[in-house]
Amino acid sequence: MKLDDKRILVTGGTSGIGEASCQLFCREGAQVIFVGRREDRGVEVQNGLRGKGFSAEYWPCDISREDQLDELFAYIRTRYGRLDGAFNCGGIDGEKASILDSTLEEWDKIMNVNLRGTFMLVQRELKMMVPQGHGSIVNMSSVCGTIARQGRVAYTASRHGVDAITKTAALEFASKGIRINAVAPGSVRTDIFYRSTQGNAEKERMYNKGHPIGRIGEPEEIARAALWLLSEAPDFLQGHTMMIDGGFTVQ
Ligand SMILES: NC(=O)c1ccc[n+]([C@@H]2O[C@H](COP(=O)([O-])OP(=O)(O)OC[C@H]3O[C@@H](n4cnc5c(N)ncnc54)[C@H](OP(=O)(O)O)[C@@H]3O)[C@@H](O)[C@H]2O)c1
Repeated sequence: MKLDDKRILVTGGTSGIGEASCQLFCREGAQVIFVGRREDRGVEVQNGLRGKGFSAEYWPCDISREDQLDELFAYIRTRYGRLDGAFNCGGIDGEKASILDSTLEEWDKIMNVNLRGTFMLVQRELKMMVPQGHGSIVNMSSVCGTIARQGRVAYTASRHGVDAITKTAALEFASKGIRINAVAPGSVRTDIFYRSTQGNAEKERMYNKGHPIGRIGEPEEIARAALWLLSEAPDFLQGHTMMIDGGFTVQ
């Protein structure tokens, strides 16, 4: 198994890509601690995993809150002793609006979760991993970390920023035995996608057609890439953002 006995943190494990990652990492032998704000969902996911005999624990946490992150990492230290890997998956996309109609409130909301949240997570993960001399961090980026999409200025800026954190952390900590990389999905069938299409068949068809592969992605396809990045397979990979987008960005 690729994560045998590894202690792995997953943010955004209460649904979508993060939930699929918790499932996959557990199947690959990891002890998973995952976070999200929705306690009912967290407990449901945790109980589902434990029912299959896996080691999984839900910890309620808002990743934009410094105090809650400090509590989370204090708990991880006490309960798990070390942190072998982290998938910083949790995030939001916000409302679609042109730059002229975007509000500062919406900008701050997205930046606080996606960018400031990732920064605070990476800082705390490194503080645990550097003394250990090993660890692998996978950040959640997006095709919007490389290209722009109309009506998504704050989200696009936040994902470009996440790529900058990934590269800087890799530069600073590659020599300390830590690997820091990112995944950049195209559209994936999760709640975020449903909020965008509202189940409208024509919109879904357009999204599928927009990806050269002819369809959008499934959560487990992104989880599999994160698994590979967390495993010991890509020893020589550093500061890399891996596009998993069915060819969306090569058009
Ligand atoms: N689906 C796509 O097309 C797509 C494409 C590229 C990138 N992404 C990124 O992939 C990540 C996962 O999204 P998804 O598609 O799986 O959608 P999702 O089902 O809505 O998942 C988002 C996850 O992030 C968590 N989250 C949001 N704000 C949080 C906060 N302040 N503190 C802690 N957790 C928070 C949510 O948990 P709670 O609500 O319980 O807090 C949830 O578990 C997001 O970062 C998203 O931007 C998605």
